[in-house]
Amino acid sequence: MAPSPFIIVAIDGGAASGKSSSSRTLSERFNFLHVDTGSFYRAITAELLRLGVKPDDLPAVRRAVGALRLGTHLRGRSAEMEIGGRVAGDEIRSREVNDQVSHFAAIPELRAALLSYQRGLADVGRAHGFRGLVMEGRDIGSVIFPDADFRFFLHADPVERERRRAGQGQHDQIRERDRLDSSRKASPLTCPTGATSIDTTDVSLDQVVEQMSAMITARLGQA
Ligand code: DC
Repeated sequence: MAPSPFIIVAIDGGAASGKSSSSRTLSERFNFLHVDTGSFYRAITAELLRLGVKPDDLPAVRRAVGALRLGTHLRGRSAEMEIGGRVAGDEIRSREVNDQVSHFAAIPELRAALLSYQRGLADVGRAHGFRGLVMEGRDIGSVIFPDADFRFFLHADPVERERRRAGQGQHDQIRERDRLDSSRKASPLTCPTGATSIDTTDVSLDQVVEQMSAMITARLGQA
């Protein structure tokens, strides 16, 4: 019997569009490795800030990024990034990181350093017996895995997204981050051609997940 295919699911969208909740649920439901690439940009931002590197000092950013020792730690079904053997903690959700992450994420060299690392997580997923990979971010369906089996793009009204973040007790300039993420030259946040676009403003997480699951289940031949 042919081995079952390893499924790659890309979920992109702005801050608080529902990416994390839906990708975590899909990872549980289908035994997919879950990857939150926003946490990678956040971890690198926290590390560069710790080193005193500013996003407008490109030579310093290049040097520091070139010296990062990146690894992967599996926590349950999630892949976490290790920098120098350590997984970052709550500091990646701090106000300072919220304010700076889009500036660092706009730097092409920093994105390039993460490209092969992110693609390589498919091999990590295969090696650990996962049935697939669900990766969330801004450029997963457009740049990291343009040939993914499924590419979803989530969006929601900004007022509703700010309400969601506030409900998580977080101060986050969502609109400003989205403006920066969408207008940058390197891999901007955009709905890739051919992706399934889902408006999550007025629908529940369950409904979003059911829509995605139905498509995945049909592909897996279990429908
Ligand atoms: O998903 P998040 O809000 O935690 O992401 C934090 C920032 O990281 C976001 O403002 C833009 C950047 N990012 C990116 O540029 N590309 C990705 N694939 C994921 C995140």
